[in-house]
Amino acid sequence: MEDFTKEQFSKFNGNDKDKPVFISLNDYVYDVSSLNNNKEKYTIYNRFFGKDIGDEMKNVSDFKLIDSFKSENFPSIGKISIPKSNLMLKRNELLKFNGENNNEKKINNSIYIGLNGNIYDVSYHGGDKFYKEGGPYQMFAGKDVSVALAKMSFDKKDIENYNISSLNEEEKICLKNWEKTFKTKYPIVGNIID
Ligand code: HEM
Repeated sequence: MEDFTKEQFSKFNGNDKDKPVFISLNDYVYDVSSLNNNKEKYTIYNRFFGKDIGDEMKNVSDFKLIDSFKSENFPSIGKISIPKSNLMLKRNELLKFNGENNNEKKINNSIYIGLNGNIYDVSYHGGDKFYKEGGPYQMFAGKDVSVALAKMSFDKKDIENYNISSLNEEEKICLKNWEKTFKTKYPIVGNIID
């Protein structure tokens, strides 16, 4: 099960043929891609693709549709939540958010990563599988990884060194590219303040 921000979820609206199609109800996300094989039901539900069927129906008296949606038993694949925002954390405070502490309304524990001054919650959108315990990039969880990623290095000394002024031009470009990837994928929850 994945956590989604509302914005991430809304992109699974059927416009991108390579992506599955989702509808949410009460913040739970359902994969309705199977509707592509059912013309009749597709026409009933397609206006809710990438949307919350409960929200959309609020002003309409057709509650039967929500009941029908429930009875379809589409697979539940995740949950929408609002990520934290405007956090101001020191690097040693980031360490707490390494995936071990549970976070209220989400499915997965929050995992924060610092990159070029920003803090990302990489537990959204399936990122937890990279950074949680046992994941291939667990060593980055709760860390400012600007130097490590810029140098494409798993070395402890690069993970512990966050002084980006030591980077050469090529490494700076690499850091910018990572920043682009993170910005399109994960919510920014705050800034590093030391
Ligand atoms: C042996 C070489 C490597 C291979 C084969 C490899 C392979 C991969 C693959 C397949 C993914 C998943 C992509 C996806 O599904 O979106 C990934 C993600 C990632 N890789 Fe590597 N990788 C390698 C080296 C490195 C190095 C040297 C670094 C940095 C030190 C690195 C950092 C990352 C990070 C941070 C992610 C996760 C990005 C995200 O959060 O979406 N990788 N890698």
